[in-house]
Amino acid sequence: MRILTVIGARPQFIKAAAVSRALRAEPDIAESLLHTGQHYDPMMSAVFFQELDIPEPAYHLNIGSSSHGAQTGRMLEAIEQVLRDAPPDWVLVYGDTNSTLAGALAAAKLHIPVAHMEAGLRSFNRRMPEELNRILTDHASALLFAPTETAVANLRREGITSERIVLIGDIMYDAARHFGAVAARDSRILAQLDLSPGGYALATIHRAENTDDPKRLHAIFAGLKAVAEDAAVVLPLHPRTRKCLLDAGLLDDVAGCLRLIEPVGYLDMVMLERSARLVVTDSGGVQKEAFFHGVPCVTLRDETEWTELVDCGWNRLLPPVSANAVRDGLRAALSAPPPPSPPDGLYGGGQAAVRVVPCLRAFRPR
Ligand code: UD1
Ligand code: UDP
Repeated sequence: MRILTVIGARPQFIKAAAVSRALRAEPDIAESLLHTGQHYDPMMSAVFFQELDIPEPAYHLNIGSSSHGAQTGRMLEAIEQVLRDAPPDWVLVYGDTNSTLAGALAAAKLHIPVAHMEAGLRSFNRRMPEELNRILTDHASALLFAPTETAVANLRREGITSERIVLIGDIMYDAARHFGAVAARDSRILAQLDLSPGGYALATIHRAENTDDPKRLHAIFAGLKAVAEDAAVVLPLHPRTRKCLLDAGLLDDVAGCLRLIEPVGYLDMVMLERSARLVVTDSGGVQKEAFFHGVPCVTLRDETEWTELVDCGWNRLLPPVSANAVRDGLRAALSAPPPPSPPDGLYGGGQAAVRVVPCLRAFRPR
């Protein structure tokens, strides 16, 4: 069986690392990777291939950054060419980025079955580019690998029949378990940054709804600055956010108050997450990783796709409507008692990747 895996953005490298390992264990499966080039800075791309033992991509499209339409369109055209030249039995796509949608659409139009990993997530906010990417990808896909019961219910509600949906658990939990042990052994980030466990809050910000809205951008960083008066705030800065802070004239001021660092590799990120007192984020993946590593999280968004964590008290939603709201919400979270013991098996048992292979083998397109 030949599988073409389409990836292009940071979280997809981490997810694909877990699945690719399981695929390589199967002698009759040949997986090729296609990297769209959506993310390209060494610390947004190459570092993950080196650290996480991801095979060298067979295809590198070098698409780079541009507007949504231009970026997705260029990917679509280039992926179509690859698929025409060497049609695989399956195309595997991850998550909800423009690379995901381009891979799914190019394959579906050529009648090549698509398997979507992390299917069924919904924020119910169609202004998010990711929400459109998810919905369109799910409906273009033959096989939908859902991480949670909630995701399955979302897909069923949209009329997707149950034989196309498989609840496999969260692939990021596989990655957290496997590479968590490697991080504990290899990462030196705490010593490099002179941080002590429990002595800092870890923050990441990159969502368009936060970075591209000057009011929200200002509210988030003014709130974080206020919190940094009491506790160190370490923030690996996404290039999108760096650019927005620079354009808004806020970068120098923020850099004087927060521990801004370059994006880090996954092993260092895991170590930073594990040892933080609180995680503050608008990332999908980081919300869950905080939980996997037993650290409470505040999500600076109006809604989340990972509602289970809000329901069980491990994640608090804090819409960043003003600097005071962010400051007060974060201070409350920093002084709150630990969340209750989490329910078992929310995200499966860390065995999502091995469930993929038999599903791909058994599936018969109708
Ligand atoms: C993308 C995904 C988002 C995901 C995130 C993971 C879409 C629509 N968005 O958002 O769902 O959560 O990746 O990190 O697909 N840039 C660089 N170097 C890079 C990559 C980006 O400088 O290596 C800068 C460029 O200025 C670019 C901007 O970041 O315009 C945004 O990059 P882009 O890939 O379009 O979106 P992300 O915000 O990264
Ligand atoms: N991550 C990382 N280095 C960083 C920031 C994040 O390795 O400097 C990892 C993080 O641990 C998680 C993934 O990147 O596994 C999340 O990606 P991101 O927040 O960019 O995207 P999202 O999950 O929101 O789509």
